[in-house]
Amino acid sequence: KIVNVVLSGGVGSRLWPLSRKSKPKQYLPIFDNQSLFQKTIKRNAGICNQVMVVGGVDNYELSRDILEKMDVSDYLELVEAAPRNTAAAIAFAALSVPSDAVMLVTPSDHLIGDEEKYQNSLKQAIEMARKGSLVTFGLIPTRPETGFGYIEHKGNEVLGFREKPDLSRAKEFLDKGNFLWNSGMFCFTAGTYLDELQKYEPEVLEKSKVALQNAKDGFLPLELSMEIPSISVDYAVMEKSDKIKVVPSSFTWSDMGSFEALFDYFQPGSKERKGNNLALGTAGKHVEFVGLQHVVLVETPDAILVLNKDNAQEVKKVYERLEKEN
Ligand code: GDD
Ligand code: MG
Repeated sequence: KIVNVVLSGGVGSRLWPLSRKSKPKQYLPIFDNQSLFQKTIKRNAGICNQVMVVGGVDNYELSRDILEKMDVSDYLELVEAAPRNTAAAIAFAALSVPSDAVMLVTPSDHLIGDEEKYQNSLKQAIEMARKGSLVTFGLIPTRPETGFGYIEHKGNEVLGFREKPDLSRAKEFLDKGNFLWNSGMFCFTAGTYLDELQKYEPEVLEKSKVALQNAKDGFLPLELSMEIPSISVDYAVMEKSDKIKVVPSSFTWSDMGSFEALFDYFQPGSKERKGNNLALGTAGKHVEFVGLQHVVLVETPDAILVLNKDNAQEVKKVYERLEKEN
């Protein structure tokens, strides 16, 4: 059994106003009329024979709609009352399948190209997972990004895993040349993950178990969930485990987290790109940019955002301010 565990927790605040709490970025049908969530399920459907979505109360209906439209027959859903981070989200999934089931854990908000290379990496990972490894997918870093995890490696062997280093460390890693970016996808058997979580963060495992035992029809209870320590799988397990391996990969991969990433995705020639500017959500209207460069214009029924793409990271602050005001 190979289960695609799809993590669908985040809001995508850097894509406001396209992305909202009620409709996070992974559900927006902006990539050839498909959403990243849908593309994720499709990409893994050839290799996985079950889908398990771990998401929040605000978005499980959106996931369900898409899965039903796609005719995915074997899917399970776990609905979190509150997000308790990825170590717990993956534990819920691992506790819900047989211990020898292979789990392919994927975020729901990444865009991947070169399907063939991707499938090859998956096949290698599944083989390694069956032998008891916690497998990561490593990509060649192109900039000293501080928002990713770094994997020091030699072939498939992992010498060290460093989650979100500071800038000087990240630069050092790039200079050294034997570091890869952690893609944020993982492959392991449920049993291997639970053993390692037990070893390094037993409280996360214990409290996750209790919450799950008290779930009703896949809905986790709020109070028991709040007792689970909130820690990501990267800090909880990947930085510590000696069972971690990597599949160095070269498929194209991007975390569609910001308007800067979207700007790069919509190449000149696409209908969204107007010269060196980008217009999103403006369907049915004529848009012109005059004397402007690197501008992103976003329109939704109740909001307009105009921004310089170089300030794309700051949209998160706008989102947070609006959250506070409302
Ligand atoms: N169900 C659920 N519950 N999903 C969650 C939760 C949660 O509490 N928290 C996060 N997620 C989902 C997010 O929606 C996303 O799909 C995935 O888990 C990873 O979480 P992020 O918050 O996006 O992590 P990150 O981007 O900071 O870091 C991770 O991904 C990087 C690559 O994009 C790490 O694995 C890094 O090492 C990696 O480089
Ligand atoms: Mg992310």
